[in-house]
Amino acid sequence: GATAVVVVAAGSGQRLGYGMPKAKVPLGGEAILTHALRGVAAAGVARQICVALPEGDAELRALCEAFAAENGDDGPLLTVVDGGTTRAESVRAALGAILEGTRWVLVHDAARALAPERVFHRVSDALAAGAKAVIPATPVVDTVKTVVETKGGDSAIAPELVTGTAPREQLRAVQTPQGFELETLLQAHAAAESFNEIQSAAITDDAMLVESLGTPVHVVQGASQSLKITTPLDLIIAEGLLEGPLG
Ligand code: CTP
Ligand code: MG
Repeated sequence: GATAVVVVAAGSGQRLGYGMPKAKVPLGGEAILTHALRGVAAAGVARQICVALPEGDAELRALCEAFAAENGDDGPLLTVVDGGTTRAESVRAALGAILEGTRWVLVHDAARALAPERVFHRVSDALAAGAKAVIPATPVVDTVKTVVETKGGDSAIAPELVTGTAPREQLRAVQTPQGFELETLLQAHAAAESFNEIQSAAITDDAMLVESLGTPVHVVQGASQSLKITTPLDLIIAEGLLEGPLG
């Protein structure tokens, strides 16, 4: 069956703080999006790459066209769509442009620009073996607690109180590319279309929508190189990965 890779690159990059869409921010002298597209193409799993860009961004569109031209005619078809105001909307926009006859889709954050080929392969292999949903993940290194804001309490001490500690051995930090049977992901996203603003903002990955359908989500091994470039520190780490032995 044919596979499409959706690359969501329509975010504004507030936390990185460059005053430009994160996909444009330079990493080792090239845009983050260029690295992400190169990684997807190198993995060789896609018949089509569908990129969601900030609405009307001519510069990033030109970057995608240049990438497609460089890859030549035997490379995957590159499709560009306008993203939305939330990540889930951007994914939905991209799903609307997937070629007929596509069986599987991998959804990937452009911000995970250095995700290694082997992770794409692990995800694709699990789909080929019959999984309807598969995500790459790594063990969590920090202890993770749940908290609530204290209302009217003694906020002089601290504004939050701990409500519990999650058992760390059961926790996983989840990455992209996340792979799905296209039909399953379409169904999951259709269910989320009626969400209000608060619910929509809480959709931080695609698997959680598929989980609500009751579909089993399989976990394969992720990679530290797949870190999501979110903060200035992450960009420093990514620069180091490009130069160092792990890059
Ligand atoms: N994304 C998207 N459309 C949006 C929001 C996010 O396509 N409306 C994409 C981003 O481009 C990124 C991925 O989803 O590749 C993960 O989002 P995140 O790391 O939060 O990126 P930004 O939203 O750009 O960053 P920030 O939240 O700091 O503004
Ligand atoms: Mg964001």
